Amino acid sequence: MSKQKIIVTGGAGYIGSHTVVELIEAGYEPIIVDNYSNADRGIIVQIEKITGKTVQHYELDCNDLAAFRKVFEAEKNVLGSIHFAAAKAVGESVANPLKYYHNNLQSLVNLLQLQLEFGLEYLVFSSSCTVYGQPEKLPVTENSPIQKANSPYGNTKQICEEIIEDTVTSKAKLKAASLRYFNPIGAHPSAMIGELPFGVPNNLVPFITQTAAGLRESLTIFGHDYDTVDGTCVRDYIHVVDLAKAHVRALDWLQSQEQNSLHEAFNLGMGKGYTVLEIVQTFEKVNDLKLNYRLGDRRPGDVVKIYGNVDKASHILKWQTKLGIEEALKDAWRWEERLKGIELVK
Ligand code: UD1
Repeated sequence: MSKQKIIVTGGAGYIGSHTVVELIEAGYEPIIVDNYSNADRGIIVQIEKITGKTVQHYELDCNDLAAFRKVFEAEKNVLGSIHFAAAKAVGESVANPLKYYHNNLQSLVNLLQLQLEFGLEYLVFSSSCTVYGQPEKLPVTENSPIQKANSPYGNTKQICEEIIEDTVTSKAKLKAASLRYFNPIGAHPSAMIGELPFGVPNNLVPFITQTAAGLRESLTIFGHDYDTVDGTCVRDYIHVVDLAKAHVRALDWLQSQEQNSLHEAFNLGMGKGYTVLEIVQTFEKVNDLKLNYRLGDRRPGDVVKIYGNVDKASHILKWQTKLGIEEALKDAWRWEERLKGIELVK
């Protein structure tokens, strides 16, 4: 039997590239669609080195419907898609909301339109715990209230889930899973792929590794007087390889469902909260180094404390995290060290 093809938009990005590796290892044939606006072309070669397989890839913007349609025309018998392609910088989304509404919403609308036109029944959507805002009750479950988003980025994730829900409600032949990620960190244990932020990183762990590598002078911990055990914010961090595997499980699960239309949301995290200081100290401990950091002002818009209940993913998708923050922070550092030796195209 020929392998089942899956279109992976944003497949050269951080979570996308790790998912492509897991798809190949599970016997799928991923087809990457990426415009490389926030990914390096060299990642494709790295994926091929890890898996020993060549990967079909198209350079285009999912917002360009005509170009995107050509992929569907060229690739016969595609089973479904995993949709990562989106802009994801919270601060930038506040400064430039229209970029986010245009890019993140239009690309999904185009994908859904093409899926229905070409009969692709399965969709795994890259959503976020940001849909919960600052929850009143922790841990958050999938039934926790969706609150007003605290950024245009967060709002695009909420609206995208609604677009999928409305499409399913219209009785379109579509089975979809929205995966609500908590904070993905770490890198592939081979250190061949990992997070590759362009410019100054917004996220905590790439900022930590770049500081340890001497690319940044010092890490600022945003806020140290919050109502938490040590005054710094609490997040639910998840190793990117565990997260990538959940996408394969979601795809398998969707195929086992009998009804024509469905949409389910799943929290994906470790189900535990760690403070920013705990992350910094664990990074220092597992990698045996000292990090230059200082306690600074709060970052506007930060949620104080969030972690998830991940029982639904565990029961329904038969998925569990296997890696902890120690492995994730070791792998993140190994990747940062290896980056110097990798020839990147951009
Ligand atoms: C947020 C969203 C997440 C989204 C992500 C996209 C929430 C709860 N999470 O993640 O859904 O996908 O943005 O980028 O809304 N920090 C520092 N110093 C730094 C950088 C970060 O102290 O230089 C702290 C932050 O204040 C925060 C923690 O580290 O407490 C994690 O921050 P970050 O990695 O940016 O992720 P979130 O803001 O949690």
